[in-house]
Amino acid sequence: MNNAAGSLKESIKHLPENIKGSVIRRGEGSPDQKRAATVFGNLFLHVHPVRVHANTLRAGYTLGLGLISLYLFLILVISGTLLMFYYIPSTEMAYNSMKDLEFVVSFGLVLRNMHRWAAHAMVFAVALHMCRVFYTGSYKAPREFNWVIGVCLLMLTLLLSFTGYLLPWDQLAFWAVTVGTNMAAYVPWIGDDLRFMLLGGSEVGQMALIRFYVLHIVVLPLFMAILVGVHFWRIRKDGGLSRPLTD
Ligand code: HEM
Repeated sequence: MNNAAGSLKESIKHLPENIKGSVIRRGEGSPDQKRAATVFGNLFLHVHPVRVHANTLRAGYTLGLGLISLYLFLILVISGTLLMFYYIPSTEMAYNSMKDLEFVVSFGLVLRNMHRWAAHAMVFAVALHMCRVFYTGSYKAPREFNWVIGVCLLMLTLLLSFTGYLLPWDQLAFWAVTVGTNMAAYVPWIGDDLRFMLLGGSEVGQMALIRFYVLHIVVLPLFMAILVGVHFWRIRKDGGLSRPLTD
């Protein structure tokens, strides 16, 4: 009885450090090996390699533009999810739900503007990131495939921006999407079908709104999340970030 009570007391005493040890695993061996094992054993840390080239750490090389794009995407996902609690994708209610958000919901205006400005900033950051990749010649072998993934990410960013534009259902949104989808009709051979498919009909109405909504909140963000994962995985497989050959 004494023994059992003693070991129970011991277990309770060591509970916090046992829990910590099972969540944050540390390795055995030399300090270097320990650090490596800690990185391998942690979901968040293992995104980074254990060792990186010094050039990769130079802030002036990447200007952090890829990560800025990622963080803006995360801000958009979080603020977009919150916006979904208030927004109603119906031609009769969409505009009013945006106005409610601005004038009735606490911090609604902040939420809406956060989403709007992060969206503009993401287009800007992704475009600048692409310029940086081009300027440093990082599209060359073995990174050509990642460049192609990047082009798809740019397309997705622009499509997200375009589909989101219709949702407030104000005059600006209506006419911008009317012009945008009319432009799609000029694509050779498939133009008219493409416009019909985008709008779910021949004019910008309820069918178009629901199509743009589903594309904006499910389809495009899902593709974006998958491709961002592939993009980061490719960076690792291509031997980390590009660097001067002489280094
Ligand atoms: C959602 C959009 C994007 C995100 C979140 C993203 C994220 C990143 C991140 C975090 C890096 C690591 C280096 C850095 O921060 O610059 C990177 C590298 C890279 N990105 Fe992107 N990227 C995006 C779009 C693009 C686009 C549009 C292109 C080009 C068309 C591109 C091509 C590349 C290439 C080739 C690399 C490797 C660069 C090197 O080795 O120096 N990415 N990306």
